[in-house]
Order: sequence, then C-alpha cells, then structure tokens
Amino acid sequence: PRKIIIDTDPGQDDAFAILFALGSPAELAVIGITTVGGNVPLKLTSENALKVIELAGRPDVPVYAGCPGPIVKKLKTAEYVHGPTGMDGADLPTPTTPLQAEHGVNYLVRTLMDAPEGEITVCTLGPMTNLAMAMTMEPRIIPRIREVVLMGGGFFQGGNATPAAEFNIFVDPHAAHIVFESGAPVTMCPIDCTYTAEMTVEWLDTLRATGKRAAIEAANMADFYRQYGGFKFKTSARPIHDACVTGYLLAPEIYEQRLCNVTIDIVSPETIGMTIVDWWHVTGKRKNCNVLRRIDPDPFFALMLERIGSLG
Ligand code: BDR
Ligand code: CA
Repeated sequence: PRKIIIDTDPGQDDAFAILFALGSPAELAVIGITTVGGNVPLKLTSENALKVIELAGRPDVPVYAGCPGPIVKKLKTAEYVHGPTGMDGADLPTPTTPLQAEHGVNYLVRTLMDAPEGEITVCTLGPMTNLAMAMTMEPRIIPRIREVVLMGGGFFQGGNATPAAEFNIFVDPHAAHIVFESGAPVTMCPIDCTYTAEMTVEWLDTLRATGKRAAIEAANMADFYRQYGGFKFKTSARPIHDACVTGYLLAPEIYEQRLCNVTIDIVSPETIGMTIVDWWHVTGKRKNCNVLRRIDPDPFFALMLERIGSLG
C-alpha cells in the first residue's frame, strides 16, 4: 500500500477523509497523522484526530500535534461551520491512546528523512503550516516527498473564506506559498473540484444503513456539518471537501486533472490567500501543480460507502 501522512484540522470533512483512508488498507497505509490549528484550535483538532482513529478501531495510528497557528497571520477558526468542538454532531469514543510527545513538524522531518526517496505522500487537509515549517526547517525533505496532495484553493469557483480565497489557503497563505514554490510535486483539490461531488441526504441514509458504528457516527457528524449549507445556501447536499483527497489517492481516474502553474497571493489586502491558477497556461510559467477540476460523483460515493462502511 501507498504510505501516507495525513496533516489535518478535524473538522467533520477531515474525519471523513481519515475514515475513508483507514477503511482502505489494501491501497493506503496511514503511517501517521499530524494536526494543526485551523477549523478550531490545535488542542481540539488533536483531540478530534484521536477520537477519529478510535472510532475507526485504529488507535495504533500515531497522532502528533503540530503548529497551533499560521506562520505570519493570526489564526482564524471556523466554528461557524464545524461547531464549537470542530466535530459537532457525533457521539465519539474516548481516545485510548495519548498524543505522541514529538512535535508534528519534527515528526514530518524525521519520517521523510528516514524513508526512501519518493516513498511518502503527504496529504494536507487544513492550513499547510506544518508542511511549510518542515520544508523550511529541513529542505532536504522536499525531493524525498512522493507527492503533496492538498485540499484547498479555488479558482473559477471563487473563495469560501473571502470572495477570492478558500479557507485552508486563506488561514495560512504563506505556508501554501512555501509548499507551492518548493518544487515538490503538488496536487491541489480546490473547491471547484469538491463542489462537483455533493453529499446527499440519501447517501447518508445508505451509510447509516450499514449499521456500523463508524459509519453511523460519520453520518451523524455530516448531518451537523450539512446544516451550515442548509441554513446558508438553502440546499441539503453539500461538498465533503477533504474526503476528495482520499478519493483521489484511491481512484485518480475519476478526477479531471490538469497540470498548471499555480501561485498564491500573499500580499494583496483583498485577495490574500487566492490560488491563481494559470488554467490556459498564458504565463508560460513552470507547471508546478496538478489541479483537480471535477469528480465523477457516483463512483466516488460508492467507494466511500464501501470503505467507511467496512470499519468497525
Ligand atoms: C476546508 O476548510 C475547512 O473548513 C474544511 O475542513 C476543509 O478542509 C474547505 O474549504
Ligand atoms: Ca480540513
């Protein structure tokens, strides 16, 4: 199986991404989880990650707390989407494993340096602070990374944190800038892509119907998470952003993709955190990013049902 580190700020959709990966052991080996301040402060995202591995029946997966906030900006959280705990809506088990003592950034550096070149994929599902810090601290990790796969950004779709910027990139644009300019192979799953696979009430019913605890609690947290969409956008179907990263690792053929140059705005007051995607290659600049544009929703949700439904 492909070795991955999940860097995350759970987050209901982060939880889906993690459960989806842990339910796919033939293809993916989750060797560690690092947490970051994002949707809620670091203490909560770390606790939530421990609860998710417990729910998945995988308390053996080590969880390392990373950076509490962005490199330059002040942390902006999103309790208005995820609730005060960051993962409201579910009744989750008490973790049986503690957090690891090592800092998440040190863990990233150590693990990438120790592994053979091109072996480990780093998936970031929140602000990219930890990976950017690791790359800054030890640049020799950069050519060792097989692929960075991130949920973040938006281009034709616009932003969800500001009119121009998506939340994960907006919270720590400087971190995103460091990673995008690093030279590591980067695949970006922006909201343009995640909005093409909206999770419906009917699908959540099928997830619950598996009768498995992990599936039922995942559906319960998704119900909470959908409310934001329901109240704000008057729709019941909502994207499950971070889970699209796992979907890409498992079934890249169901994604429309294009290699592009992508830069991050880190200076303009109105558009800071914007992912500037050169979709038509008008700049002629190096294509530093594989941009995911569209998902085929039926196979995506079928696979996620099978995999999350297999847990517990
Ligand atoms: C991203 O922002 C967070 O609130 C979600 O967990 C996801 O990673 C979507 O813009
Ligand atoms: Ca997230």
